Amino acid sequence: MQAAEKMSTDPQVKDMKDIVALCKRRGFIFPASDIYGGINGFWDFGPLGIELKNNIRDLWWKAMVITPPIGPDGHPLQIVGLDSALVQNPKAWVASGHVGGFSDPMVDCRETKKRYRQDHLVVLYPNDPQYEFGLSFHEEAEEVEIKQRFKKFKLSFEDGYIKKSLTEVPTENYIYVIGPDAKEPGTLTEPKEFNLMFETYVGATQSEDSKAYLRPETAQGIFLNYKNVLDSSRVKMPFGIAQVGKAFRNEVNPRNFIFRSREFEQMEMEWFCHPSEAKKWREFWIEERKKWWMSLGMSESALILREHDKDELSHYAKAGEGTIDIEFQFPFTYPGFGELEGIAHRCDFDLTQHQEHSGQKLEYIDPERDNERYIPHVIEPAAGLTRGMLAVLCEAYTVDPDRPSGVYLNFHPKVAPKKAAILPLTAKDGHPEKAEQLYMELREHFPVDLDIKQNIGKRYARQDEIGTPYCFTIDGQTMEDGTITVRERNTMAQERISMDNALAYLREKIG
Ligand code: GAP
Repeated sequence: MQAAEKMSTDPQVKDMKDIVALCKRRGFIFPASDIYGGINGFWDFGPLGIELKNNIRDLWWKAMVITPPIGPDGHPLQIVGLDSALVQNPKAWVASGHVGGFSDPMVDCRETKKRYRQDHLVVLYPNDPQYEFGLSFHEEAEEVEIKQRFKKFKLSFEDGYIKKSLTEVPTENYIYVIGPDAKEPGTLTEPKEFNLMFETYVGATQSEDSKAYLRPETAQGIFLNYKNVLDSSRVKMPFGIAQVGKAFRNEVNPRNFIFRSREFEQMEMEWFCHPSEAKKWREFWIEERKKWWMSLGMSESALILREHDKDELSHYAKAGEGTIDIEFQFPFTYPGFGELEGIAHRCDFDLTQHQEHSGQKLEYIDPERDNERYIPHVIEPAAGLTRGMLAVLCEAYTVDPDRPSGVYLNFHPKVAPKKAAILPLTAKDGHPEKAEQLYMELREHFPVDLDIKQNIGKRYARQDEIGTPYCFTIDGQTMEDGTITVRERNTMAQERISMDNALAYLREKIG
């Protein structure tokens, strides 16, 4: 493999610092409250970021609600949409298990006063028989950091080590564990549960009675409206309800840019079916969802399916076939993978809980099965929209030392914020007027950019960095014969076409 080729495809050379810098420089993602120094775990989406995010959201909505997949029987599935409130009756979160159980186990370090998620720490026990202590690290710690700390404690990294998750270490043995930033062993406390829900108060008084929560998942809004949707629409089992929207989690360690943030967006669909069919539908949705991510331009080698281990399962997935994650190879997880979407068999957990807590009957009377009464089972494909956007950005980020920008975003045209740019070669000789004429025609059909200022090289570089698939350039020859150049982003190859055919050209290439 040529060096340049390797550079452009190997996720190892995609440096997150460069991706974050490009996102800010070109207006995709900014730190929230940037002028005040930001606020940890919150991000704002700039002019191009919102376009990219909306494109992914709209493609998901289309694949779910507008033209749902064709089912195993050859007929289109029934999926309807919903937009529920961010704040719901707090009793709903008691019923769903979030008030009692939506928490992470945290350990504190008495020496450094730092707090860590117990399940995010690993302990490395050096293979040196003289050494009876374990060094703990964040699970994503890189080899250089591990090597440096081994050296600090005068241990040979080359001798090897035994690795355990801190969750596997009995708490009485914490006296032999050195915290990730500590100098002495035995400073980590026993784990304590920390609830991730953001609290707020509804109305003028702040008391226990007015306490409410910002939703930590969009899914519950769907379960709360299951009966309303059944009563008001013509859906029949099996069917789905889909929702896209914000969710809030007071994550202890927001990290890796927008991968784990405290405010984020989810795209969730709850698929209600007869309990005997849940297994079949789970397989169906796993396949569909992987195909969908690939349709956004993700390469198959960058995606894996990973079955949750028994101890990772959420409270609602325990009794079913469990949860499978679709994971993507992010630069910061390389050579490993990080979760993009979980496909869970939630059984009848949520509806049964809401039936008990609300006192409302949530059974389905199935006319196709001799009026059998049952609480449907649920298969839930739950994807991150903001996290998906990060995956799309990381996949598209391509290092190319042979072009002035040194990098381009290889977006699939479907997700690209701008489908084409119209660039007059100079700001005189009638070029800008001609460019505006083309822009006025194309903007009715596609999101396109008209960029008049700066030299043409700089403008191509900008379009490469924002991932615009095509640039149309108006030059002297346009004024003579009505042709324009088309520059293709990935190959930088140029051809001439008639300006009158520009719209047809884009339609053919982009659809
Ligand atoms: N209703 C099920 C549910 O919420 P989840 O695995 O906790 O399941 C689903 O969340 C998806 O939401 C994840 O696969 C991930 O893409 C996204 N997500 C979860 N927490 C997130 C966070 N703190 N920041 C960004 N995305 C997050």
